[in-house]
Amino acid sequence: MKLLAVSGSLRKDSFNTRLAKLIADASNVDIDVATLHEIPLYNGDDEAETGIPEAVETLRRRIKAADGLIIVTPEYNAAMPGVLKNALDWLTRPGEEMKPTFGGRPTALAGATPGAWGTAFAQAGALINLRQLGCWLFPDYLRISKAGDRFDGDRADDELKGQVAGWVKRFVDFAGRG
Ligand code: FNR
Repeated sequence: MKLLAVSGSLRKDSFNTRLAKLIADASNVDIDVATLHEIPLYNGDDEAETGIPEAVETLRRRIKAADGLIIVTPEYNAAMPGVLKNALDWLTRPGEEMKPTFGGRPTALAGATPGAWGTAFAQAGALINLRQLGCWLFPDYLRISKAGDRFDGDRADDELKGQVAGWVKRFVDFAGRG
C-alpha cells in the first residue's frame, strides 16, 4: 500500500503541509507528501501551445502510483484555495487523463485551520469537485480546528497525533478494500 498526501498550501509554515507530514508519519504505510509550488496557472492557450507542464505530469505519475489520495486543504473564504483547484484542473487535462488519474481512486479529505470549523466548508465544496472527477470518496473527514494551539513547530500534541493515526488507519482500511 502506498498513499499520496497533497497539501493545498504554498506557505512555508503551512499548518496543512504540517498536517500532511503528520499523516505521513502516522502509520507504517508508505505515505508521500506532495506540494504544488511548481504547478503554473492553467491557461488553455499554454496547454494548446506547449502541452501539459512537466510538474503536472510528475504529480499525475505520483497520484497514479498511489493506492489512495489524501487532499489536505486549507480553507480560504469557505472554499479550497485556488492553488489546489488549479492543480486539480490541470490534472484533468487532457480530458482522457481524468479517469485514469482520479476514477475510482480512494480519496480522503483532511484540513487544518486556526479557525473553529476545521475547514468543513472547504471540504464540503471539494467533495463536489472530487465527485465530478470520479474519485471514490472516503466518508470520514479529518478536520483540525485551532491549529495554532495544536502544533508547536512541526510537533503536534498527543491528542492530535492520536486523532490523525486513527483516521489514517481507517483510510488505509478503506483504500485496501478498493
Ligand atoms: C483564510 N483563512 C480562513 N480560515 C477558515 O477557517 N475559513 C475561511 O474561510 C478562511 N478564509 C481565508 C481566506 C484567505 C484569503 C486567507 C489567506 C486565509 C485562514 C486560513 O485558515 C489560515 O491562513 C491557514 O493558516 C491557511 O492554511 P495554511 O497555509 O496554514 O496551510
